[in-house]
Amino acid sequence: MSSILPPARRIWWKEPVEKLEVWWIVIAFAWALVLFFMMPYWHVFGKQNLSNEAYRISAEHYQKKTQAMVDKYTVRTETEQNIPVVHPPAGSDVYLIARLWSWWPILELEHGQKYRLHLSSLDYQHGFSLQPENVNLQVVPGYEMVVTVTPNKNGTFAIVCNEYCGIGHHQMVSRMYVK
Ligand code: CUA
Repeated sequence: MSSILPPARRIWWKEPVEKLEVWWIVIAFAWALVLFFMMPYWHVFGKQNLSNEAYRISAEHYQKKTQAMVDKYTVRTETEQNIPVVHPPAGSDVYLIARLWSWWPILELEHGQKYRLHLSSLDYQHGFSLQPENVNLQVVPGYEMVVTVTPNKNGTFAIVCNEYCGIGHHQMVSRMYVK
């Protein structure tokens, strides 16, 4: 039979479902339920999925807020691009800009202190990945993502962009200090 001809039985779809198919539907449905309940489970008991808040914000406004923090709390500059290293007071709001293809500024945080970490992009979508910790956050233009963090390890951490954002994506790396 070719698809050009009508099916032999006109009401071809109105047949009892085969037993094997029923079993596959049951298995697929059960697995979907497992995945569904794993989402809240990992949010509460996993370490990767942080609770974030999101607010609408324009790129200009976000840049202004970040600049204000940088003007106030820069302690030195690093790298060939003279990126400011900012040491904001413990417990304060800290801002990080993602843009093609860099992170700005470099944050220096204190061990065991709570911070409100703000993230936003000035252009396209980027991904905030903190290495070697398992922290992943989407950085979306037009939105300010806020996570409450308490650094619990000393050292220098790498920040890499894990959302493909164009030709310089692999160069979009930075660092964060905790001491
Ligand atoms: Cu930014 Cu990839």
